[in-house]
Amino acid sequence: MSEVHTRPIPAAFIENALIGADDYERMYRQSVENPEAFWAQQAKDFLHWDQPFTRVFHEDLSRGDTAWFADGALNVTVNCIDRHLANRADQTAILWEGDDPADNQAISYRTLYEKVCRLANLLKAQGVKKGDRVCIYMPMIPEAAYAMLACARIGAVHSVVFGGFSPASLKDRILDADCRLVITADEGVRGGKHIPLKANVDRALTDCPEVRRVIVVKRTGVPVDWDSKRDIWYAESVAGMDSECAPEIVHAEDPLFILYTSGSTGKPKGVMHTTAGYLLMATMTFKYVFDYKEGEVFWCTADVGWITGHSYIVYGPLCAGASTLMFEGVPTYPDASRFWQVVDKHKVNAFYTAPTAIRALMGAGDDFVTKTDRSSLRLLGTVGEPINPEAWEWYYTVVGDARCPIVDTWWQTETGAHMISPLPGAMALKPGSAARPFFGVQPALLDGDGKEIEGQGEGSLVIKRSWPSMIRGIYGDRQRMIDTYFSTYPGYYFTGDGARRDGDGYYWITGRIDDVLNVSGHRLGTAEVESALVLHEDTAEAAVVGYPHPVKGQGIYAFVTLKSGHAPSEALRRALIDLCATEIGPIAKPDIIQWAPGLPKTRSGKIMRRILRKIACNALDSLGDTSTLADPSVVDELIAHRENR
Ligand code: WTA
Repeated sequence: MSEVHTRPIPAAFIENALIGADDYERMYRQSVENPEAFWAQQAKDFLHWDQPFTRVFHEDLSRGDTAWFADGALNVTVNCIDRHLANRADQTAILWEGDDPADNQAISYRTLYEKVCRLANLLKAQGVKKGDRVCIYMPMIPEAAYAMLACARIGAVHSVVFGGFSPASLKDRILDADCRLVITADEGVRGGKHIPLKANVDRALTDCPEVRRVIVVKRTGVPVDWDSKRDIWYAESVAGMDSECAPEIVHAEDPLFILYTSGSTGKPKGVMHTTAGYLLMATMTFKYVFDYKEGEVFWCTADVGWITGHSYIVYGPLCAGASTLMFEGVPTYPDASRFWQVVDKHKVNAFYTAPTAIRALMGAGDDFVTKTDRSSLRLLGTVGEPINPEAWEWYYTVVGDARCPIVDTWWQTETGAHMISPLPGAMALKPGSAARPFFGVQPALLDGDGKEIEGQGEGSLVIKRSWPSMIRGIYGDRQRMIDTYFSTYPGYYFTGDGARRDGDGYYWITGRIDDVLNVSGHRLGTAEVESALVLHEDTAEAAVVGYPHPVKGQGIYAFVTLKSGHAPSEALRRALIDLCATEIGPIAKPDIIQWAPGLPKTRSGKIMRRILRKIACNALDSLGDTSTLADPSVVDELIAHRENR
């Protein structure tokens, strides 16, 4: 890969930055040389403890074990709400921008306190206790944040399921976490379209007999089916509740939430995060990576259904006492100027989005951007997938008027918070590089033999020591966590990503090296899509790989073998695509289906995905050795009938 030119941070930014170059070097050194002292200090500075901790951390990565501040006790909502009431009760906590540009709402910290307490009391009245799991299946409305925080208020564990997931996916997640209560809305609204959330919940619950209560927020007021034994309306139910609710003080290592994410094998796994370490790192990264200053408006465009929404719409910003913008809509509605209009309307200071959105908007043309002011912006951020240098440059020069540093933040659901990212006052930017590790994070690159690569090089990205917001478990399956993250390279946390380190110690993430796709910044297991495709009675076998897609980053390329006697047809293609949408969600729809008379397999019957990936990417001269295949001729057949796009 050719070296890209470096962009220095604008001098005006550096002058006022929270962390300068020297601070970074000093603090990073301390964080790795004396982690006990470093983290003890940060945990005291950033969090309010009801019971101080005396033990900082314990780790045994060979068993995937870690514990942080284990004998301390606290409550997340005391940190995110109560402690701000003395000085900023009237400051906006959540600034909500609806799908319709005429809809918005500012929720102060005082109002947030009352909303969260009332809902927390409602949950208690419904029998929800500390440790119980609550499923949240919501559109991007303030009640989604109230619901998460209400769980945290009483020590319940939330499991937010992205509103774009299908009833079948929702059902799997409800059952896996054994949720007994679901919080949802009648409908969601995105880009002028309505999403039937309540109807989806009704369908999911036909197979979840243990769910005894559904709390429904009225978002659009459409008529919905109603089970009067099970369903209650949010507004009328919370109205009768007390507006004070004593916080449940929990142990630092009590679980805060479960969030499902895709892996290379099997069904999505419920990644578990605990209380103090997660909150500390979400807050610290929020403050330092986004160089957050008192009074600023921060906007993360993710959905609360993903980790990015958890950490950088809700927990990080609120714990830091910021004003966090929550957007219900999409970047292109009413038109491709929407993001920048919202930036101007609410005087957004820091803006955080995904490369796929940047590429889509770049394709719509500069006028949508340049006709807006954007002078409130001070910093830009990206997350979710590698950003190509062209998109980076456009974001920097057209959106940021070459004034705003871009923080390219690499992290994962499992890491809870940013792991590798520029600190914008401390290091020059290189378009396409996530720069250097955050405090306390010790990345390493391993070669094919599992040996650490020193200096420059490329390999598997692993993390050598535990960090406060590290994954604590996969719900209901501890062994699966160890197998997935801590067994590939014993003693290390395995990220599933490949990366390159350059001569300046900057990391360049090259993408997943396992069977996980990254489609528009959303993680999907190839195995999940394959399982959906083989549900069709005409399908004998399916193999799914990713290929480069100009907007989505990766597109989904499916090779499908039909049972004998069944012929390919346009109708069948449509049916298979629909099946992926109904089984998983619209994000899982294959972009390309190629009918494959046979799949390349080893003599032992293993599908050789490496070859399929090359065919999908049109990298035909680097197919590699095909002599070990049971029937090498299938490869020629697949190449001859590659789908054009
Ligand atoms: C990818 C999202 C390159 C990576 C926070 C990772 C990135 C996966 C970046 C996690 C980035 C995330 N540059 N790749 N800045 N950020 N990724 O769990 O492959 O939804 O493993 O968490 O996204 O996706 P997840």
